[in-house]
Amino acid sequence: MQTVAVIGAGIMGSGIAQTVAQNGIAVLLSDVDLAVAQKGKAGIEKSLGRLVARDKITAAAAEALLAKITPIGEYAPMAEADLIIEAATEREEIKHKIFKTAGEVLRPDAILATNTSSIPITRMSVSSPDPARFIGLHFFNPVPVMGLVEVIPGLATSQATIDTMKAFGAALKKEVVLAGDEPGFVVNRILVPMLNEAIFVLGSGIGSVEDIDKGCRIGLNHPMGPLTLADFVGLDTLLEILKVYQSTTGDPKYRPAPLLQKYVEAGWVGKKAGKGFYDYSGEKPVPTR
Ligand code: 3HC
Repeated sequence: MQTVAVIGAGIMGSGIAQTVAQNGIAVLLSDVDLAVAQKGKAGIEKSLGRLVARDKITAAAAEALLAKITPIGEYAPMAEADLIIEAATEREEIKHKIFKTAGEVLRPDAILATNTSSIPITRMSVSSPDPARFIGLHFFNPVPVMGLVEVIPGLATSQATIDTMKAFGAALKKEVVLAGDEPGFVVNRILVPMLNEAIFVLGSGIGSVEDIDKGCRIGLNHPMGPLTLADFVGLDTLLEILKVYQSTTGDPKYRPAPLLQKYVEAGWVGKKAGKGFYDYSGEKPVPTR
């Protein structure tokens, strides 16, 4: 694998770009326009700067990594890529449009992968030029730190595509799990109902923001409490995922907590907005209720 294109320069796309570049592979980082893609690269530079300041990596290594990432504002350069990874907003109609456009430049031997958190792969593969070369490749946030990637074949995905993606995961020094093409795959299918339940628990007055998080952090030995993690994932993303579970399975157990809906309506969508279940404007996060 020599060149990977990443579509979407948000939290996940930037994390994927950083990880790929860190492993010596050239990255084309794209977004709706060049300025947004450049902003994504600037974010990577900032986070590498923190690692340099803490002596985790050398300034030269950070520079070499950044040199591997080229922000782009259009699809044409992706004709070079061996692999295109879509990591855009978790909205199905947006993703279908991206697959159609990326499909026009996808090389006949290249793979088109989606980092969707929840949307079935087979359903989205119909917008790609060749469903045999279409696959789910699900990373975890923060991508450079989390050691797992889920590989999700659709109905038509070829064995060659699956094998290439498993090898790619290993080349990124991640453990790979193979997941079935059902909403949420393996990990999010389990995680998202837990985060939603934590919001129901908050909304029902069973526990405070701090006690829910403290309880799970200490009582379950989780690195982050569920409300902190929900803020970290993004409450808008969480809501979109629950809607996919609900509409795809028809099972009411996936109904979003009313408080989640309310926070999203308020624009309090978590850490990236500076406010969610916590306010991130000060030194330390402070609960918002
Ligand atoms: N690049 C490379 N390394 C980085 C980095 C980056 N951008 N950011 C941090 N690191 C390194 C740090 O240098 C540090 O390394 P060290 O162990 O050698 O010192 C290590 O990562 C841990 O970082 P910190 O010390 O800054 O932070 P914490 O120890 O507090 O851990 C955390 C932070 C790893 C985020 C931890 O709190 C955690 O594991 N939280 C849970 C995260 C989680 O569950 N993610 C999955 C979310 S679900 C998902 O993504 C799926 C989606 O579809 C919704």
